[in-house]
Amino acid sequence: MKLKIYPDYAQMSDAAADAIIMVVKEKSNAVICLPTGNTPTLTYELLVRKSNDLGIDFSKVILIGLDEWLGISATTVGSCNHFFNEHLIKHLNFSRKNIYLFDGLTNDPEADCHKINLFIETAGGIDLMVVGIGMNGHIGFNEPGASFDEHAHVTRLHAITIEVGQKYFNTEVKLEKGITLGLRNLLESRNVIMLANGRAKAAIIRQTLEQETSTLLPSTIMQLHDNSALYIDEEAASLLTE
Ligand code: PGA
Repeated sequence: MKLKIYPDYAQMSDAAADAIIMVVKEKSNAVICLPTGNTPTLTYELLVRKSNDLGIDFSKVILIGLDEWLGISATTVGSCNHFFNEHLIKHLNFSRKNIYLFDGLTNDPEADCHKINLFIETAGGIDLMVVGIGMNGHIGFNEPGASFDEHAHVTRLHAITIEVGQKYFNTEVKLEKGITLGLRNLLESRNVIMLANGRAKAAIIRQTLEQETSTLLPSTIMQLHDNSALYIDEEAASLLTE
């Protein structure tokens, strides 16, 4: 695992945008899995700006959404679908047929998980997975205790995720379950980048890097991947001791 510490959020986001562009430049039909959340917002703004300036073609790129809140519609502000549409899909020339986002209102989430797992396998695997990190160390909706051996699956949300998750919504919503790629998907991705910025993430970043790998802290799985990188700003790095 590589650790890259940037002076601030803007420079971290700039590097993350460049890393995504590099993968797409190298492989026009790259399979990329991306997260939502506050952390990657500037990364996507820069990705859009740079890609449009450089004329990067996303028409063959396969976009997979990391996760979605179950029970929340794609048009609800705060849903991952809504976020992807507003921040990425609208602005880049993705082909609709190459976009795979979980449907929060699906009748059969298990079948959807099976479909996406099969799709990733058929597509030859994920070239780049970008993830954020929750205040409890979750990745996507792989909450503390999640197996490192599971592919896409349905999860019961952890109390911290339910509490913190309200920040994305305009009105109070009932958050109970999520649908997410699994930690096995992360281990099987060719490259993984985790993003974290700000002082609020400093304690969990320290644990992620300095604790032994454990399913109780899902983010420690980053230590097990040969091509993983943590992109953080100085604030998120401020409690590191080593
Ligand atoms: P955030 O969420 O980027 O809004 O902090 C990260 C996460 O929960 O994975």
